[in-house]
Amino acid sequence: MRTASPRRYLMCPPAHYRVTYCINPWMDPRKPVDPAFALFQWEDLRDRYRALGHTVEVMDALPGLPDMVFAANGATVVDGRVLGARFANPERAAEAPAHLEWFRGHGHTDIQEPDHVNEGEGDFAVTSSWLLAGQGFRSSPLAHDEAQEFFRRPVISLELTDPRYYHLDTALAVLDDTADEIMYFPGAFSPGSRAVLQRLFPRALLATEEDAAGFGLNAVSDGLNVLLPRAAAGLFAPLRSRGFVPHAVDLSEFHKAGGSVKCCTQELRP
Ligand code: ARG
Repeated sequence: MRTASPRRYLMCPPAHYRVTYCINPWMDPRKPVDPAFALFQWEDLRDRYRALGHTVEVMDALPGLPDMVFAANGATVVDGRVLGARFANPERAAEAPAHLEWFRGHGHTDIQEPDHVNEGEGDFAVTSSWLLAGQGFRSSPLAHDEAQEFFRRPVISLELTDPRYYHLDTALAVLDDTADEIMYFPGAFSPGSRAVLQRLFPRALLATEEDAAGFGLNAVSDGLNVLLPRAAAGLFAPLRSRGFVPHAVDLSEFHKAGGSVKCCTQELRP
């Protein structure tokens, strides 16, 4: 029997969300974003979390930071400890101090400013046994050591090799963080990392290229409910047969910047 556990999420509204620069292959500043539709989609995601009984904290969006809606990248919080982010691209650099300020203003004291580039939960995923950490495009392998030391959890370093899956959370999602259950797209990883994933997660749900390209791995699970883009049609039946309840979400406006459900959601783990 699968059970949902109550979560606390941090989100940032798309008040200034646009595609004005290009730092991943999905972004094309010539393709306009519909700001009203983006806000509608974002509010729908927020309201679904609340309807499922989860707490959603909302931080203010800052002008000049169009990707700030992707709150997952701003920090990583495990066991109440906050590891700040350091962005690879100057366009997003100012998001990191904004997140630190939010945490300082909301009662968090165990906060570390990182020495090395890490894009928060974009590249860190938490299972019961490990902290899975992506590198290759954004986060530095040195940040993996830093995270291991700070969180006191074993880090498994994974190499991303396909620029479309530039963050770990575009290629892998944790389905049950009490039992090391994940789903991932093998094609996004180096042969060595693929073998590591196969060894650690022999029963993982493997996504097809098509579902990965529909941002199907950019999903959020509470242990029972899995929120994922409706475009990832092939994942719904396998999730159901494993006892999960998939919820189709439409975040198409955010796919234009290379992000979806998970990118918009930072989990605050007590
Ligand atoms: N445009 C953003 C970037 O390239 C998208 C970030 C998506 N976030 C994520 N957690 N994958 O940085």
